[in-house]
Amino acid sequence: MQVIFGAERDELDDDAVLAAYPWPEEGPWVRAMMVTTLDGAAAGPDGLSGSISSSVDKTVFDAVRRHADAVLVGAGTIRAEGYGALRAKDADAEARRAQGQAQAPVIAIVSPSLDLPWDSELFTGSTEPPLVLTTRAPDEAALARAREARATVVQSDSDDLPPRFLVDTLVQRGLRRIVCEGGPRLLEAVARAGLVDEADITVSPMFAGHAHVTRTEGLDHVVGFDLVHVLTAEGFLMCRYVRP
Ligand SMILES: NC(=O)c1ccc[n+]([C@@H]2O[C@H](COP(=O)([O-])OP(=O)(O)OC[C@H]3O[C@@H](n4cnc5c(N)ncnc54)[C@H](OP(=O)(O)O)[C@@H]3O)[C@@H](O)[C@H]2O)c1
Repeated sequence: MQVIFGAERDELDDDAVLAAYPWPEEGPWVRAMMVTTLDGAAAGPDGLSGSISSSVDKTVFDAVRRHADAVLVGAGTIRAEGYGALRAKDADAEARRAQGQAQAPVIAIVSPSLDLPWDSELFTGSTEPPLVLTTRAPDEAALARAREARATVVQSDSDDLPPRFLVDTLVQRGLRRIVCEGGPRLLEAVARAGLVDEADITVSPMFAGHAHVTRTEGLDHVVGFDLVHVLTAEGFLMCRYVRP
């Protein structure tokens, strides 16, 4: 992997990639991590992001997560992508403990419906019990099922899940380094609430043939971010943007 803007080294290994994605020493910080095609699609024809990603993009994806406290994801992504258990490598777990973090990041799933794969490895095998963020009054049977699973269910006090509630819930639990891995619906809400501090965006050198649907709602004004670096390998661009 090569740096074409923003860092001193030309070739990057896993630890150098990790060093290219530092977290601030203190305070909440929300990173948006996404891969997009040239025509703006978030998934390939199979409905999965893997088909528009690559091993180098995966290297960045892993690095961005390695010292996160929480991985914030929408239920649609969990259902589509079949997330596995969230664990850390031994060396990372040790480094995390040394700096006062939990051994591995906590997965935090946004789901009003509570239609989630409760028997999957994500719930049974993740180091930290998953957090599930839901509304005041989800379906009773779904709530009962969620409570049986190895998960901590947190309910908002309304029928919505405002992005500010999502981020505050994590921060109140000491989870201040947050990677929001999407999907598009969740990321749109978090961006619209002005809560994105950093965007780690991979531009995948391909067309998917389906793009964003034009929307009428959005921010009143576009928000500019500063480009910190661009990593490139195999035609992929991995960009790190930070709020000025
Ligand atoms: N390119 C990438 O980097 C990337 C990253 C992630 C996902 N993806 C792809 O994106 C697709 C899924 O997209 P998506 O937009 O449906 O994903 P999503 O945001 O992960 O899931 C949408 C679901 O999450 C819950 N949710 C999300 N935001 C919410 C909010 N603000 N308030 C209340 N509930 C909220 C709802 O859950 P309930 O249905 O449980 O009520 C909603 O139906 C998949 O094809 C996936 O592969 C791509």
